Amino acid sequence: MHANGPIGLFDSGVGGLTVARALAKALPRESLLYFGDTEHLPYGDKSPEAIRGFSLKIARHLVDQGAKAIVIACNSASAVAFDHLQAHLNVPIFNVIDPVIAAIEASGSKNIAVWGTRATIDSGIYSQRIAAVLPQAIIHAMATPLLAPVIEASPLDEALVDATIKFYMANQVPVDHMVLACTHYPLVADQISAKLNATTTMLNVPSIVATAIASDLKGMGLLSNQSDATMRCAVSDYTESFEAIAAKFMGKGVQLTEERIWD
Ligand code: DGL
Repeated sequence: MHANGPIGLFDSGVGGLTVARALAKALPRESLLYFGDTEHLPYGDKSPEAIRGFSLKIARHLVDQGAKAIVIACNSASAVAFDHLQAHLNVPIFNVIDPVIAAIEASGSKNIAVWGTRATIDSGIYSQRIAAVLPQAIIHAMATPLLAPVIEASPLDEALVDATIKFYMANQVPVDHMVLACTHYPLVADQISAKLNATTTMLNVPSIVATAIASDLKGMGLLSNQSDATMRCAVSDYTESFEAIAAKFMGKGVQLTEERIWD
């Protein structure tokens, strides 16, 4: 395994780009290899078995392309496929949940909202792991299944995103801390923040995750020292909306290709 090899990341679609962007900022010398499984999104409504199958196939594909480590840049897959990937691959695997649990523990929060897909919330992983580190905390875990597909389909349609957030916000009680437990949601963090109580702190999940991965890679002696880092981006099914949001969000030329790994 070569330290100058790329870091492989994957998600069902554009959501994992929030992690990729934070990682590129924290580790500008790292090349990134991103895979968005647009053919199968949303992952949040799929069974754990299906998500495990997609995840392993994609992670293997990224390792075959030289990835020195895999970041599961998706909460749904992190919730149900992390152990499976660790058992089947011999590169370091990172999930997006462990660093967030550590940050919540450090916050000492008493009242926490968690928004995520059905797969993530139904797995119970956030409720169980937060309860283990903060037994007194009240946890409001809510599935918000319309949000990722709306962000994916109409990333630039603020009115639709806004209406969807308002729909879920109607069921949200005031909390100290809010966790966006789907990597798509930070794309609309400002719109969510604007509707929160002024005393609620929203965790900056992409930055928390990137900082933890940077520190772990350093500890493993796997940091790159190259000065010409690149970002390559592939999707299993090309969509204009993916290209539009990738260009808007990553803010620089992203090479986008379609790789039909399921054929
Ligand atoms: N971005 C993903 C997550 O963090 C998946 C969203 C979806 O495809 O349902 O859960």
